[in-house]
Amino acid sequence: MRCTLSGVAALLGLAATATAQRATTYSDAATGIDFQRYLATSYKFSFGVALPETVGSDFIGQMVIPLTDSAGWGAVSLKGGMLNSLLFVAWADGEDIQTTFRLAGSYANPDVYSDTEVTATPIANGTFINSTHISYTFLCEGCIIANKTTLGNESPILGWAISDTNPTTASDPTSALSYHSAGFGQFGVDAAAAQSAQYATWASWASAGTGTGGNTTVPGNTTFPDPTTSNVTYDVIVVGGGPAGIIAAERIAEKGQSVLLIERGPANTVALGSAQALAWNDTLTAYDIPALGSSMSGLSGTKFCSDTASTAGCLLGGSSSINGLNFIHPPSHDWERWPKGWNSADIADAEARLYERNPGTTAPSDDGKYYNDHAFKVLSTQLGSKGWTEVDSIEKPEEKHNVYSRPSWSIKDNLRAGPARTYMPFAKQLPNFTLQLNTKVLQAVRTGSTITGVLTVAEDGSRQIIKVKTGGKVVIAAGAMSSPRLLWNSGIGRSDALAIVKSGASQTGVTLPAESSWIDLPVGHHLQDHAQVMLQFNAKSNFSAYDFTDIATDPVESDLDLYYQGSGPITQAAQRMHLWTSAEGADGRTRYLQGTASAMSSGVITIRSFLTHGTKTVGELGITAAGNTVLNTKPWLIDDEDRQAMSDFVQWWLDLSSSSNSTLEYITPGATVSDILSTKMISGDHWVGSARMGLDDGRNANGSSVVDLNTKVYGTDNLFVVDASIHPDLPTGNTQSIIMITAEHAAEKIAAFTVTSGSSNSTAPIASRCNTGLTRRGARIPKSYRRRQL
Ligand SMILES: Cc1cc2nc3c(=O)[nH]c(=O)nc-3n(C[C@H](O)[C@H](O)[C@H](O)COP(=O)(O)OP(=O)(O)OC[C@H]3O[C@@H](n4cnc5c(N)ncnc54)[C@H](O)[C@@H]3O)c2cc1C
Ligand SMILES: *[C@@H]1O[C@H](CO)[C@@H](O)[C@H](O)[C@H]1NC(C)=O
Ligand SMILES: *[C@@H]1O[C@H](CO)[C@@H](O)[C@H](O)[C@H]1NC(C)=O
Ligand SMILES: *[C@@H]1O[C@H](CO)[C@@H](O)[C@H](O)[C@H]1NC(C)=O
Ligand SMILES: *[C@@H]1O[C@H](CO)[C@@H](O)[C@H](O)[C@H]1NC(C)=O
Ligand SMILES: *[C@@H]1O[C@H](CO)[C@@H](O)[C@H](O)[C@H]1NC(C)=O
Ligand SMILES: *[C@@H]1O[C@H](CO)[C@@H](O)[C@H](O)[C@H]1NC(C)=O
Ligand SMILES: *[C@@H]1O[C@H](CO)[C@@H](O)[C@H](O)[C@H]1NC(C)=O
Ligand SMILES: *[C@@H]1O[C@H](CO)[C@@H](O)[C@H](O)[C@H]1NC(C)=O
Ligand SMILES: *[C@@H]1O[C@H](CO)[C@@H](O)[C@H](O)[C@H]1NC(C)=O
Ligand SMILES: *[C@@H]1O[C@H](CO)[C@@H](O)[C@H](O)[C@H]1NC(C)=O
Ligand SMILES: *[C@@H]1O[C@H](CO)[C@@H](O)[C@H](O)[C@H]1NC(C)=O
Ligand SMILES: *[C@@H]1O[C@H](CO)[C@@H](O)[C@H](O)[C@H]1NC(C)=O
Repeated sequence: MRCTLSGVAALLGLAATATAQRATTYSDAATGIDFQRYLATSYKFSFGVALPETVGSDFIGQMVIPLTDSAGWGAVSLKGGMLNSLLFVAWADGEDIQTTFRLAGSYANPDVYSDTEVTATPIANGTFINSTHISYTFLCEGCIIANKTTLGNESPILGWAISDTNPTTASDPTSALSYHSAGFGQFGVDAAAAQSAQYATWASWASAGTGTGGNTTVPGNTTFPDPTTSNVTYDVIVVGGGPAGIIAAERIAEKGQSVLLIERGPANTVALGSAQALAWNDTLTAYDIPALGSSMSGLSGTKFCSDTASTAGCLLGGSSSINGLNFIHPPSHDWERWPKGWNSADIADAEARLYERNPGTTAPSDDGKYYNDHAFKVLSTQLGSKGWTEVDSIEKPEEKHNVYSRPSWSIKDNLRAGPARTYMPFAKQLPNFTLQLNTKVLQAVRTGSTITGVLTVAEDGSRQIIKVKTGGKVVIAAGAMSSPRLLWNSGIGRSDALAIVKSGASQTGVTLPAESSWIDLPVGHHLQDHAQVMLQFNAKSNFSAYDFTDIATDPVESDLDLYYQGSGPITQAAQRMHLWTSAEGADGRTRYLQGTASAMSSGVITIRSFLTHGTKTVGELGITAAGNTVLNTKPWLIDDEDRQAMSDFVQWWLDLSSSSNSTLEYITPGATVSDILSTKMISGDHWVGSARMGLDDGRNANGSSVVDLNTKVYGTDNLFVVDASIHPDLPTGNTQSIIMITAEHAAEKIAAFTVTSGSSNSTAPIASRCNTGLTRRGARIPKSYRRRQL
């Protein structure tokens, strides 16, 4: 199971209509103020509201937030759902309480709110930190804002969220917030009951100089320290230590070129320096354990990125360290729409090199057994009755029509595999390879078409320029959700996105190159993803699911004994079957569908259904002034034939499970395909294409490509992108394996490429094209419309 941010988005959407949670009257002993207060009992979070008899733009709030080991934050959404709502957030910074107003344009770390002036001033006797909680009682001035809050309505709906992790820098109110892993929900308030004649008296108690809370106002401009310059230079700097970045860096270093790999997050394994060892084994982390692969979002401290439009891992190994471990060998048709030099025969050697180190397995338990196998048995009987056949998807990757397989996983030696485990040990042995962790690259530094190095930010905020040698190269491998940001921050992209980056300079510290040297490319424009619909069935035969909950803290003794012998349920990831079929569309295109089955609660089989290879829909990635990437257009089932293919697949499952002899029954009786598509569709977490590769130079009219066939960014001499971003098409299975193969192939091309300056500027004058871009984009999708689609 992948409980993603977009999955949460769907939940929040539903909660808005289904909520029965309401605030009730509460007289606060500490202050004497009467609130309408909602208490999330099992979470020990509460939020109270008091209003004047004539509601204007102010209210009094009281937020009580539980602390876990003195850490955590709490938030209230003044509109209910998280999107486009004014959010108020508080956390402890030692003995002080930090507070901040935010606004989220996507389900990612919300931007600091700066549209209008809003102020929170504490009321001293309701503002304190004790050993278990933070209490923050405040006068909120200017806070009731049309369309961003519902407190001006008769029946306001508010939302709340808590995390047990502090923001990245507790002393900084603009700090990135970790995912609200500890809980969230919505509640209703009776506005009339919240009004009081005593409001003005209570409001007069608010005083900036008292209590532990400070003022919260529109943030001032941060100052950014001047960068130092590193005295070490490299042949190649690779930005991002995900699967693609590690492979590219290691293979290029093998050729004898000096390589610096820069990763913004920490190590994933104890051996590489992770400080997140498990309670039951100090040489292992949760990232290592196969059975935890689909539970990472439920564990505290998992390193997810806080500034991406959808879930991504921000640590060594990137999302290959936090993903579900599905490892699908791509069939040759996955390359059919790739450009020259990138077809199935061209990449065969790269593929062999990957499988030599990271083959994947359909039999992870050393004793050859499959544990907790009920779901596989139930489904294989059902599918067998429909004429489907069993294959081993590693031995027969070409068979992708009406077949099912034991799950194929990126597991090796009973541990999560992936390049952080299968390539890093080789890299460490190379004298010319350097790994720098916990360092974020802000932008590539360039003079015209030549990249001279990168500007980095360390955890303490200090900045450094690291240069490449003359003729050196910079390779961006920050993932499909982040590489576009690095390009935009380097002055590469359409002018609408660059204008947003420019407007956020005071928040992000990004100084763009002069507009005259912007490179006009459709960065973010060809975003694709597998649309995912989660189907759940009651298995009429009762069975108990494997209990994944305590593996991180306290696994069942017998399972642990087996694990130390290389076998048992902990050696398996969460899936129980992969299955595929295909359909011919009315448009003559073949579309593939994958089902990934799991059994994570007793009696229930979940089939995550993905529309995969053949998907035609494309969306668009964008950026906010604060530097978060956002979905301008979601790339799911916009194309009619895409929607048809997914609808038919869902209907097929409903038909199968409604036949009288079926051993499955859809979990919501009477649900229709359209109900299911409208409530259950989420990201497949398989993003590609946000800086696509192709022959059609994106600087030309109608050109759609950002990188050329060497993976070099058009219009630059020596800037490359190697990760999911460059994939021009979606594969039939989960993305990580084909991303690794592509990185293997790209590494050869990059290592062999000779940089010639000025070799790259074969197209029309850049300035006039920037204007064209703006007009075209502005006319096509107005921003307000794009926002509403989220
Ligand atoms: C929740 C989830 C589950 C998934 N499940 C599966 C699965 O089961 N099977 C499968 O095949 N695929 C799965 N995927 C997809 C797969 O993991 C990704 O497609 C793959 O990891 C992408 O690789 P990448 O190298 O392109 O980028 P990423 O994995 O995103 O790696 C990018 C790296 O760059 C770093 N970085 C980003 N910005 C900067 C910067 N400014 N400076 C320095 N470093 C930076 C990041 O920290 C990260 O380490 C899943 C994805 C998610 C999010
Ligand atoms: C809280 O503080 C205010 C202002 O200082 C005071 O008037 C009020 O009585 C206090 N409440 C209680 C319950 O002590
Ligand atoms: C801390 O304060 C909260 C909120 O007033 C209260 O519920 C909790 O019981 C207090 N904890 C302790 C240990 O006093
Ligand atoms: C609020 O939203 C409504 C409907 O979407 C819109 O008509 C109105 O102009 C918005 N008001 C403000 C102040 O943005
Ligand atoms: C809080 O804001 C008020 C009004 O803007 C100002 O007078 C006061 O000095 C501020 N206090 C702090 C601690 O910043
Ligand atoms: C921040 O800087 C921008 C321009 O650099 C300026 O327009 C703005 O007024 C500043 N804001 C504050 C609060 O100082
Ligand atoms: C580079 O700088 C570091 C300190 O930042 C110093 O220790 C080292 O000796 C320097 N190396 C060279 C080659 O100058
Ligand atoms: C390391 O790189 C340098 C060039 O930067 C090269 O001269 C040297 O041979 C390389 N060393 C190894 C062991 O590959
Ligand atoms: C921890 O796990 C490793 C790898 O499975 C194993 O070799 C080691 O014995 C374990 N340590 C303990 C203390 O059990
Ligand atoms: C259920 O019945 C149908 C039609 O009678 C038959 O084709 C199918 O094989 C049966 N399925 C199972 C699982 O027995
Ligand atoms: C399934 O098992 C659960 C508990 O294990 C039991 O409560 C339930 O009644 C069983 N259902 C059927 C259909 O046997
Ligand atoms: C670009 O696309 C438009 C509309 O599809 C078309 O009219 C125009 O001829 C194309 N231009 C080029 C240079 O291909
Ligand atoms: C292209 O590069 C060459 C060599 O650096 C330079 O002379 C020329 O002006 C450039 N052309 C454009 C359109 O930028």
